[in-house]
Amino acid sequence: MTKINSLTGMPDLHDSEDKKSFSSKLFTVENKLKKIFTNFNFKEIRTPMLEDADLFLRSVGSTSDIVNKEIYSFNDRNNKAIALRPEGTASVIRSIVERKLENSTHKLWYLGPMWRYERPQKGRYRQFNQAGIEILGLPEGLPEFEIISLVCSIIQELNIKNCIIKINHLGSPDEKEKFSKALVSYLKEYEHMLDEKDKLRLRNNPLRVLDTKNLNTQKILKEAPSIRDFIDDASLLLLKKIKSQFSDICKIDIDHSLVRGLDYYSGFVFEAISFDLGAQDSFLGGGRYDQLSSQLGGKEMPSIGFAVGLERLSEIVDVEEDTKIKISFIIATSNLEENAYKIAHQIRRLNDQVVLDCYLKEGSLKSKLRKAHKNNSDYAIIVGEEELENNTVIIKSLQDESTNQKVMPVDQLDSFFQDL
Ligand code: HAM
Repeated sequence: MTKINSLTGMPDLHDSEDKKSFSSKLFTVENKLKKIFTNFNFKEIRTPMLEDADLFLRSVGSTSDIVNKEIYSFNDRNNKAIALRPEGTASVIRSIVERKLENSTHKLWYLGPMWRYERPQKGRYRQFNQAGIEILGLPEGLPEFEIISLVCSIIQELNIKNCIIKINHLGSPDEKEKFSKALVSYLKEYEHMLDEKDKLRLRNNPLRVLDTKNLNTQKILKEAPSIRDFIDDASLLLLKKIKSQFSDICKIDIDHSLVRGLDYYSGFVFEAISFDLGAQDSFLGGGRYDQLSSQLGGKEMPSIGFAVGLERLSEIVDVEEDTKIKISFIIATSNLEENAYKIAHQIRRLNDQVVLDCYLKEGSLKSKLRKAHKNNSDYAIIVGEEELENNTVIIKSLQDESTNQKVMPVDQLDSFFQDL
């Protein structure tokens, strides 16, 4: 029989004893992010992975790369066009509008897989995991500070070095439109010098030309109009204030050429870039999207948020899972396993600071101890027939070979681990 492999760009994630492995780091990062979000009092929201395909056309935008060429959409058995979500924001707003909750404020987080049909390469997958946060119902002002404070907390907590947060302001929808028109009329003169990709962007989504990787276009853009000349003083002041408030914690730069790849943004936008990531260097991005709720048929609801890619984070973080005491539980009896197993059950129930790995495979005591060492356990607990009879266990430190193993009554185990 031929084997069936996973789809291109959709890797499996598989935790292991090697905590430096890509998957293990990703799971650790996931747990740490959840703690940070809870610490900021954000509440979880879980939306479906499949949505009406129109949702993304009307939010992410029909001219965006995501909707144009990256969306996974198909007709279901009822001939309805549905899509695998390429991002989380549109679904969150759809959910709030659907339940008529636009009049309240919300601080929400989500985490889960997203799908984009991109050409896979380092840091770019077709199925990837995003964690995102959205602050809904509050206009520009304090939410911007809360968001950047959260971004800095992620960078600090996950020990990310060599990174920078770029911030910009795209103005009101009106100002954004005026800037876009000025940019088009400037670039029209140079249209014949642009490559096909930039020509297409100029036609469909002119601000995206600012994102070009083409060096010639970059040169042309040096003299192009800047958004700086189209936004008001309050917007410029906000950028300056945010930069000065957080620069002693994280590196922050105002970058007036920063535009985002999704259509729904206006106002404050930002991205976090790592110099250790290669071509796909942006690991976090977001901004304000005050019009999205009304674009999706809801009431006006000023909103701001961001999402961070867990795969890209895993490449650059320096984290370890919160340390727990790791115990290898070795049953060294031939036929009284059930009673021995009860002791393992009791230890797990009593103390959530321990991770207890019960060796399920038959084998000699020596080979099980070797495995316990290999798995980096702190202690081995060994239960033989004599121990079972006396309601005791043998406890052996595996990190400190100088201490002798000792026999301990089962009912003292909990206080032993509590006191460590
Ligand atoms: P985005 O910039 O499209 O924003 O994606 C956010 C992050 O998802 C990126 O910075 C990157 O780390 C990760 N990411 C995107 N595409 C891929 C891929 N193909 N493979 C691996 N990682 C990827 C959004 O999605 C917005 N919804 C963010 C937002 C929330 N804005 C407001 N609220």
